Amino acid sequence: MRHRNFIFATLNALNLHLLLGIVRRPLAVYGKKMRQGRKGQAVISFENVAYNYGGGELLSEISLRLAPGSFHFLTGPSGAGKSTFLKLCYAELLPTAGHVTIFDREVRSLSRDEVAHTRRRVGVVHQNCQFLDHLPLASNVTLPLTVSNREVSGQDLGDLLSWVGLRHLADALPPSLSGGERQRAALARAVIVDPEVILADEPTGNLDWEMSLRLLTLLVELNRMGKTIVIATHDMNLIRQAKAQVAARVLRIRNRRVQLAGADL
Ligand SMILES: Nc1ncnc2c1ncn2[C@@H]1O[C@H](COP(=O)(O)OP(=O)(O)O)[C@@H](O)[C@H]1O
Ligand SMILES: [Mg+2]
Repeated sequence: MRHRNFIFATLNALNLHLLLGIVRRPLAVYGKKMRQGRKGQAVISFENVAYNYGGGELLSEISLRLAPGSFHFLTGPSGAGKSTFLKLCYAELLPTAGHVTIFDREVRSLSRDEVAHTRRRVGVVHQNCQFLDHLPLASNVTLPLTVSNREVSGQDLGDLLSWVGLRHLADALPPSLSGGERQRAALARAVIVDPEVILADEPTGNLDWEMSLRLLTLLVELNRMGKTIVIATHDMNLIRQAKAQVAARVLRIRNRRVQLAGADL
């Protein structure tokens, strides 16, 4: 319960500041309120990880740690393994070698229930976000709560939809939404369970620049609330833009390895 209250309370405060047009500075205040815990430890760590779909190794010798509250981009050409890497981060795939640890638990040691529990702490915005087309946007956004028999108050849901700029479309059916609206709905759906980590797979892939910036702003705000963010993208302009706002690091997939890119990028 505390988690839900936290995210909605923070979104309320965010909306206020957005309305007042003083987004940047005041958000730092909320950083103090964020759930602390596990300071200095990694939320997700890879130790000598490899992955192979059966046709030879796609990712090899990957060792890295994602610190709580960090902001990472993941780049690399199409087919390099970005989506695969993200799937390893939320235990959709298990490594074929090495160890992936999520919230201090080795993924292979997780029972099915524990995988489900872990997934509630890791929100994913998929590359091609799918919705139930016969259900209105609001019901699609609350689906993660519905499936676990939880509820959200109308006001909290309204606040969340306002935050992503979709409150006026609460009753719209998914097929009528634009690409940018779909991506923001997908972000709201990922955020509604108040995850600690948000993984976004090319969230701006089909969006124009203005809408890309809008989505980036939402992700930056989530990071300022203390969320750990990983965004797969090959949009260098987006990365440059983000670096002006947050201490974002860039992970690059090259020759099957994931390397931390230099500060030049
Ligand atoms: N389920 C799968 N089975 C076999 N090969 C796959 C599967 N998913 C992805 N691949 C292959 O793995 C490579 C990396 O895919 P992906 O992780 O989606 O890369 P990216 O997201 O960087 O474009 C691609 O060559 C892709 O065809
Ligand atoms: Mg991909």
